[in-house]
Amino acid sequence: MYEVKEFRKPSYDIDPIYVKRWSPRSFLNKEVPEDILYSVFEAARWAPSAANIQPWRFITARNEEDRMKFLSFIYEGNIAWCSNAPVLVAVVSKTDSTFTGGHNPSHAFDTGAAWGYLALEAARKGLVSHAMGGFDRDKAKEVLTIPENYDVHAIIALGYQGEKESLLEQFQEREKPSDRNEVKDFMSEGTFQEK
Ligand SMILES: Cc1cc2nc3c(=O)[nH]c(=O)nc-3n(C[C@H](O)[C@H](O)[C@H](O)COP(=O)(O)O)c2cc1C
Repeated sequence: MYEVKEFRKPSYDIDPIYVKRWSPRSFLNKEVPEDILYSVFEAARWAPSAANIQPWRFITARNEEDRMKFLSFIYEGNIAWCSNAPVLVAVVSKTDSTFTGGHNPSHAFDTGAAWGYLALEAARKGLVSHAMGGFDRDKAKEVLTIPENYDVHAIIALGYQGEKESLLEQFQEREKPSDRNEVKDFMSEGTFQEK
């Protein structure tokens, strides 16, 4: 297993959880206990949202029947590794609200924050999470009976990290924590600066 410190060195002081969280593809054949799973969603619960609308919704698949439903709309390149994850989660948001009187322009922003909280709590609990955008959104809405006024943003694979060697060869080389741009590369003061 990788030591994250080998690959990720924050330039400023932050809590270690931010670099501990990364997205492996190898999963152990081990169930996630219910209380741990609920803690992960509890963290998502406390994310901020515009007018406290809390537009996020999560749909889980953790038995064979539900997991097969998810695998019917996830693209092949992801199925090749995520089919071993004990839990799959669809990240969904309500696109409208009575508070905004129609479209809620913050629904995706707020749901992204909730997923971030979820991923960090998962890391804190010794789990790994890996988001996927590679799936058929229309089919996901149909299979999961998601109403028209909701968007499906991502599918999350969640579980305990497995050995790199248990992955198909094509994924083994990529099975390590990635680095990031420096803060100066995405932050500007006063006005926008093209970087
Ligand atoms: C919205 C979203 C969609 C993603 N889609 C995929 C995907 O379809 N397949 C995949 O293997 N990884 C996917 N990823 C994982 C990213 O590639 C990964 O988060 C990024 O490279 C940063 O690495 P880290 O999460 O290990 O820090 C996705 C991540 C996000 C947030």
